[in-house]
Amino acid sequence: MAVIVLLAPTGQVGFELARSLAPLGQLHYISRADVDFSDTAAVQQKVAALQPDVIVNAAAWTAVDKAETEAEGAYLLNAALPQALAQVAQQQNAWLVHYSSDYVYPGNGTAAWQECDQTAPLSVYGASKLAGDIAIQNACAKHLIFRTSWVYAARGNNFMRTMLKLALSREALKVVADQVGAPTPARLIAQVSCLALQQALIKGAQVSGIYHLAPKGETSWYGFAEAIFAFVRKKGIALQLQPAKFEAINTDQYPMLAKRPANSRLNLTKIEHTFGMQMPDWHGQLELTLEELLSSQTLLTD
Ligand SMILES: NC(=O)c1ccc[n+]([C@@H]2O[C@H](COP(=O)([O-])OP(=O)(O)OC[C@H]3O[C@@H](n4cnc5c(N)ncnc54)[C@H](OP(=O)(O)O)[C@@H]3O)[C@@H](O)[C@H]2O)c1
Repeated sequence: MAVIVLLAPTGQVGFELARSLAPLGQLHYISRADVDFSDTAAVQQKVAALQPDVIVNAAAWTAVDKAETEAEGAYLLNAALPQALAQVAQQQNAWLVHYSSDYVYPGNGTAAWQECDQTAPLSVYGASKLAGDIAIQNACAKHLIFRTSWVYAARGNNFMRTMLKLALSREALKVVADQVGAPTPARLIAQVSCLALQQALIKGAQVSGIYHLAPKGETSWYGFAEAIFAFVRKKGIALQLQPAKFEAINTDQYPMLAKRPANSRLNLTKIEHTFGMQMPDWHGQLELTLEELLSSQTLLTD
C-alpha cells in the first residue's frame, strides 16, 4: 500500500485531496500547525521520516495582490517549499504531486495555452509559482505538476462564495468581463489528481510532467457570476442584487495591485490524452459545487 503524505490539508484543494486520496494508500497529513512550512529543512525531515511513495503539496501562497509587496513570503511557499519537497521525493524515489497556475503565462492573445508554451508571468505570484515548477522539474524525476485556474469550492475564500455573499446583501455589483478562463472546483482538481496519480504509480516516470487541469469551456468573471446567480435564483433563493444593476466592466475599471492575465484559457489535450480522461464542462461543475454549498448551508458562517 502506497504511503502518501499530504501537505496542507486545510486549503480548498487540500481539503478535497484529503477526501479523495484516502482510498489510494496510507495517508498522512502535515499542516502548518505541525511544522513551519517556511523552515524547509524541518519540512524535509518530517516528510522523509514517513518514507513516502507519494508527496502531495497543496500548500501555497495564494494571496496574489499581497505577493506584490511580500515577495519573500510568496517565494518561500511557492518556490523554496516545492524545491525542498522535490529533493525529498527524489531521495525517496517518490512521486511529487504539485499545483501551479494559469498566472505563469503572459495572458495575451486568445488561443488556449499549451504546457510547452513560453511562460512570462505578469505578477510576483505568477513568477513565484513558475519558480516552483522549474525547481521541481530540475530536482525530481517523478512529478505531476497540475496548472489550474480560477479555483473555487463550497468552502474557503473564493470568487463563487464572495459573489453570493455580495448578491445577497447588495443591489448593485460590477464584475470584470475581459478576463477569460475556466472556473475550476477544488473537488475536480482532487479527483483528477487521484486518477492521474493512480496511473502514474503504474506507468512510472514516463508520465512525469506538467499538465493543465481545468474544466472544458470558457467564461469571464462576469459570466461566472451570472451563472452563479442564475442557478441560485432557479433554486428559489432571493438575491438583493437587481439584474439591471449587475454591470460588466473592464479590468482597467477595477485596479488591483497585481496584474492579471486577460487570457487564462488552458489547452487540455495533454492531460486527456496521457491519462485517457475527458474533462467535464465548467457549467455542470459549478452546479455540483453550488448544490454542495446550498446543502451545507454554510455560506455566511465559515
Ligand atoms: N486559488 C486559485 O484561484 C488558484 C488558481 C490557480 C492555481 N492555484 C494553485 O492551486 C493550489 C491550491 O490552491 P488553493 O486554492 O487550495 O489555496 P488555498 O485555499 O489558499 O490553500 C493554501 C494552503 O496553503 C497554506 N498556506 C498558505 N499560506 C501559508 C503560509 N504562509 N504558511 C503555511 N501555510 C500556508 C494554507 O494553510 P491554512 O489552511 O492553514 O491557511 C492552505 O492550507 C495552489 O498551488 C495554488 O497556487 C490556485
